[in-house]
Amino acid sequence: MKALEGVKILDFTHVQSGPTCTQLLAWFGADVIKVERPGTGDITRGQLCDVPDADSLYFTMLNHNKRSITLDTKNPKGMEVLWEMVKICDVMVENFAPGVLDRMGLTWAKVHEVNPRMIVASVKGFGPGPYEDCKVYENVAQCAGGAASTTGFRDGVPLVTGAQIGDSGTGLHLALGIVTALYHRTHSGLGQKVDCAMQDGVLNLCRVKLRDQQRLGHGPLKEYSQFGEGLPFGDAVPRAGNDSGGGQPGRILKCKGWETDPNAYIYFITQAPVWEKICDVIGEPTWKTDPDYAKPPARLPRLNEIFARIEQWTMSKTKFEAMDILNEYDIPCGPILSMKEIAEEKSLRDTGTVVEVDHPKRGKYLSVGNPIKLSNSPTEVKRSPLLGEHTDEVLRDVLKLDEARIAAILDSGATGALTRTAAE
Ligand code: COA
Repeated sequence: MKALEGVKILDFTHVQSGPTCTQLLAWFGADVIKVERPGTGDITRGQLCDVPDADSLYFTMLNHNKRSITLDTKNPKGMEVLWEMVKICDVMVENFAPGVLDRMGLTWAKVHEVNPRMIVASVKGFGPGPYEDCKVYENVAQCAGGAASTTGFRDGVPLVTGAQIGDSGTGLHLALGIVTALYHRTHSGLGQKVDCAMQDGVLNLCRVKLRDQQRLGHGPLKEYSQFGEGLPFGDAVPRAGNDSGGGQPGRILKCKGWETDPNAYIYFITQAPVWEKICDVIGEPTWKTDPDYAKPPARLPRLNEIFARIEQWTMSKTKFEAMDILNEYDIPCGPILSMKEIAEEKSLRDTGTVVEVDHPKRGKYLSVGNPIKLSNSPTEVKRSPLLGEHTDEVLRDVLKLDEARIAAILDSGATGALTRTAAE
């Protein structure tokens, strides 16, 4: 049995944040039924398309292992079916704009009355407060959650990161909230509301920067390059380039080939316990005892000089050669891997972290598999559903509606023309 086998999810999510969450739950074995608007479905099906007439990679890579039913929730028969789903599902997950669910009549009070065991999980951009009614996308959350103001170089503009910490990050938070509520339900017998705001999710991931904000009140942040450069700090945490966020100074350094390869770099951490080994490797054995370099506090004002010297050494090696040498001495480091290198990395394929999936309309494509590995509930990644592929199956086998009722639903147009044709 899969870990979440038997759990039924009414997946009312779209775009990225909600779908990431329900995809994880599907990978753990939940039966995830995605409700989509007839005709178009989740808007990402048609966004950033690369293969004509096929669902985009944006959609397919976020909606594996799910079933799809099309329902027009602005049609009374569509709402009727939705309420049938509320009655039999364990969890409803949604990430509509604020107010949408209430306008559909799916208020928490009503859902809880109809199915007291149901957990209702929502992603919104902001929690209660001045921005609670705002629509939010990834980069808005990165900006409002503190990530952008602390990312980039001190003399440059704030930067967003390629990691989707606002969308996928909040989806992860929501998934944890849902399984926690499912566990709580085993004691209480009752469902509850699970709310995750994208601003909160990003801030949670930026925790160390709020740490630094408070340390700033007690003096300069000595591990920031800015300190060694003699530049004064302002009243807010500055952008710190590639400085390490922890107590062990680190930087991205050039490796052999950097002039032509944009990813010929390595992250190098001058971890205190291996300082002497670092000195030997880079050819500066006197730094082991020199009072200006021997102890971490003495090194802090000299980080630019120290990393420039280490870089002279890394530039004489490829990033992989440097990795091999440094790992021999337990010196923490990591190559800057391009997406091309990651896509081709055999070990990631072997662990199922990168998977090849076959799709009837687009053929084979690569996806990121489940990054969470359960020993007794391994993940088998299955292709995303076509729009409305499981409408009939859900009406008949899941909701167990009788033929007359199904005919009335199809005739009303609530499931869209496609399904009607398929049913005929
Ligand atoms: N049938 C009929 N109508 C449907 C439907 C269906 N199956 N599913 C949704 N709709 C309707 C809704 O009822 C709503 O209509 P209304 O505004 O008349 O009440 C409408 O679709 C729009 O929903 P909305 O969520 O506002 O979509 P949007 O495209 O305008 O906004 C977001 C997209 C992402 C900005 C917004 O959903 C949002 O802020 N979500 C919360 C934060 C979030 O998750 N953001 C990250 C996304 S990765």
